[in-house]
Amino acid sequence: MKKLSVFVSGKGSLLEAMIKDNLVIRLVLADRNCRGLELAKAAGIPAKLLRRTDFSPNFDRRAYTLQIVRVLLDHRIYFVAMAGFMTVLHQVIFENYQGRIINTHPALLPSFKGDHAVRDALAYGVKVTGCTIHLATEKLDEGKILGQKAVRVMPCDTEETLHERIKRVERRLYPYVIREFEKTI
Ligand code: GRF
Repeated sequence: MKKLSVFVSGKGSLLEAMIKDNLVIRLVLADRNCRGLELAKAAGIPAKLLRRTDFSPNFDRRAYTLQIVRVLLDHRIYFVAMAGFMTVLHQVIFENYQGRIINTHPALLPSFKGDHAVRDALAYGVKVTGCTIHLATEKLDEGKILGQKAVRVMPCDTEETLHERIKRVERRLYPYVIREFEKTI
């Protein structure tokens, strides 16, 4: 079986769904102290916190990414699923993991790229948004689309209610897409 690592930063509800779905995860990696680390611990999955201390424009993205690559190689990780990981990685990671990193984004790409996809979709006034699971590339929120599902926007939606409905869909779709993706790499 190809060894999977899941990267997290936030609430970790997608990681939780993967664990519930019995996906075999060999390493959880976080860039900050977050719930995902606790979930990993409770599930007996090795977890690594590579704390990012610098959020300034001077952040040495390459050096930080190289630390991540070292951890992945130490754990013999074959592929990666980013699940709400908030650090954009340097392209140096693709020297080892080209075509083997996937990401989920809470919008229907190529619309609403970036950190505020749900807010931006609401502000634009779209009636339908959703989630996209895609191959990660050097360019943010680009790369081959592996899975996509639509979610209807309700008139009373706030960023929180809409994001939660999108995440409900992501929690079902992501484990499925990861399994299908694994067969192709
Ligand atoms: C998801 O909506 C994902 O698309 C986005 O971050 C969210 C992660 O949620 N990149 P959680 O931390 O797993 O609850």
